[in-house]
Amino acid sequence: MDVRATPAQSDGTTMNDRPISRRTAIILGALGAAGATTGWLAASRVFGTVDEFRPETDAELHEPLVLDSDRGLLSVELVAAAGATLAGRTTQALGFNGTTPGPTLRVRPGDEIALRLTNRLQHPTNLHTHGLRVSPEGNGDNPFLRIDPGASFDYRYRVPHDHPPGTHWYHPHHHGTVADQVFGGLIGALVVDGGDDLDVGRDRILLVSDIDLDADGRVSPVTTADRMNGREGELVLVNGQHQPTIPAVPGESQRWRIVNCCTSRVLAIDLDGHQLVQVALDGSFLPTPLPRDQVLLAPGNRADVVVRPAALGRHALTATPVDRGGMGAMMGGRAATDAVITLATMVTDGPVVTSPALPSRLPGESASGAAVTRTRRIRFQGGMGAGGMAFTIDGRLFDPTRDDHTIPLGTTEEWTIVNSSPMAHPFHLHVWPFTVLATGDGAATTGVAQDVVLVPARSWVRLRIPFTDIAGRTVFHCHVLDHEDAGMMATVNVHR
Ligand code: C2O
Ligand code: CU
Ligand code: CU
Repeated sequence: MDVRATPAQSDGTTMNDRPISRRTAIILGALGAAGATTGWLAASRVFGTVDEFRPETDAELHEPLVLDSDRGLLSVELVAAAGATLAGRTTQALGFNGTTPGPTLRVRPGDEIALRLTNRLQHPTNLHTHGLRVSPEGNGDNPFLRIDPGASFDYRYRVPHDHPPGTHWYHPHHHGTVADQVFGGLIGALVVDGGDDLDVGRDRILLVSDIDLDADGRVSPVTTADRMNGREGELVLVNGQHQPTIPAVPGESQRWRIVNCCTSRVLAIDLDGHQLVQVALDGSFLPTPLPRDQVLLAPGNRADVVVRPAALGRHALTATPVDRGGMGAMMGGRAATDAVITLATMVTDGPVVTSPALPSRLPGESASGAAVTRTRRIRFQGGMGAGGMAFTIDGRLFDPTRDDHTIPLGTTEEWTIVNSSPMAHPFHLHVWPFTVLATGDGAATTGVAQDVVLVPARSWVRLRIPFTDIAGRTVFHCHVLDHEDAGMMATVNVHR
């Protein structure tokens, strides 16, 4: 495993310890001793704060550069490096091609993506196309690849002809460095274009992320407690901007493709004075538009919502803190605050226009009716054990060489994810989206395919997963990326 010396801080990623390998995955251990010897728990964490960093605020929302496919091919070069522009300033945050988020990749069903990723970070990296139903093998969406600093890799993704249109995203997925790199800013949107699938006045991408930066724009160090809880940055950004404004015209509907790119933070989003009419979840259309007062997004989730601005003036898009449970402010971790976070402000101005009403039926996939051939029980665990604090699946840490679940291609399974820990953990499976049948807390289900579901603390969720169309070996994991890096990940091998 890759255990390296303490890195320099210049890439803005891991500051005060080495990337977590399996050897260090039992992270709490003899916490006092570890803290004393490594300085992990040095008196108090130096938090980067909004006050210190002084981001630009209230600027008009801009969208990441869009890279569109041409005659069936999207050819892209992405360079991952520190020094990204963020909130109007040049920082040591990480970016793709100098920005965070990186460019939006826009493709159509049947397209191919030829993507060269160059690693100018100080740690290994790779790329995951979160939500895309493409092969996880070879130079496809392969989470086992490792691209070393200085190296490049040529990915080739083949988007199936019957791929549903939807909102997805991309981010690094090299086990051990994922949380640092996503928190650092390595995120971007990936949209499968559905043509005129919804008649709206504006179609926007809103990538929500969080980070901590100090006065000089360096990414702040994280503590062991942050890794246990799952780090949450104080600076919450939309498209890399702090509290931008979203221009709107009264009566003109806008589609907002909201992606929760935060490393750990759960977002409970609402728009002052308006309902958010949800039309899609994780890139799948809901059967009918669903008006909501609040939309809950675990890390990795996406919601497409339609907003019809009513009154003139300023209306805040906010995130109410969600308690994920766990250690809280214990041992150097930050306390969850009750403060509501302003993500952006919709500014409505001008004469009223009328836009067409949403259709009562949305153009989604029809659910598969295939019979369940097998059930499995998967245990998410996190807590104190003999060796210290560990985050495991079925009592084991991630081992990329082990096949944890072998599944014949073309079968449908029912999985129950049981969470015995005092924290909520978002379950995420690559490549094969699932439908949620039920959850232990009785939360309403949508019936459509999704790829992240929050498993409440000391509770469970039951999923139906069609392992159809695509064969290959990949992973499922907790999308609190600190937990994934600590070993809360397992493999699936779907074979012909
Ligand atoms: Cu968005 Cu395996 O992750
Ligand atoms: Cu994923
Ligand atoms: Cu977790």
